[in-house]
Amino acid sequence: MSSNPIQAELSFAPMHVRHVPLIGTIERRNYDFAWSDGIFRDCIKAGYICQRVLLDDDVIGYGIMQIGADEAHILNLCIDQPWQRQGFARLLLEHLVQQAGAHRAQMIFLEVRPSNPRAVELYQRSGFNEIGLRKAYYDSHQGREDALVMARSLSTNMSDVMRH
Ligand SMILES: CC(C)(COP(=O)(O)OP(=O)(O)OC[C@H]1O[C@@H](n2cnc3c(N)ncnc32)[C@H](O)[C@@H]1OP(=O)(O)O)[C@@H](O)C(=O)NCCC(=O)NCCS
Repeated sequence: MSSNPIQAELSFAPMHVRHVPLIGTIERRNYDFAWSDGIFRDCIKAGYICQRVLLDDDVIGYGIMQIGADEAHILNLCIDQPWQRQGFARLLLEHLVQQAGAHRAQMIFLEVRPSNPRAVELYQRSGFNEIGLRKAYYDSHQGREDALVMARSLSTNMSDVMRH
């Protein structure tokens, strides 16, 4: 229970197919080139980690992550506009990092548009490094846009622990 009675409670919960219409509405509000509802349904059916971010009972964002052999790939991360700039994306990212670690991933990858400095800064401040570029990866209003590929190692902490 919160020590501050007026503070809303943040939590994470799985996304199911029944949640997709609302998630799709948030997606279209926040991206110029939004995922279709079908992509979200496919991610859920494929068993990807699909998490909703709840502030009390309101859905304020979501994250989608694919886990491979020993790698995780963040495919979508969004906090709805009214709740941005309050640290929620950072918390969502840390939640996904923890889930990736729990699945024994050693590395987490993601792609981000260079034209999205808020997202690039979020990832940099959360320990992701730029490791490459995927040419013409995204649709854009001026043809195609490259993607920055960013990665964060999860094994560093583990080797630190093992050294002690
Ligand atoms: C990018 C996005 C996820 C950030 O969400 P958010 O909840 O506002 O981010 P946070 O409040 O957790 O901010 C964490 C860090 O992100 C960066 N950031 C967030 N908003 C920013 C802004 N308006 N300007 C510059 N940096 C910003 C900062 O580094 C910030 O750290 P700080 O608060 O110490 O300055 C959100 O704007 C969003 O969902 N946008 C639409 C979808 C999208 O672009 N997703 C990313 C696709 S790769």
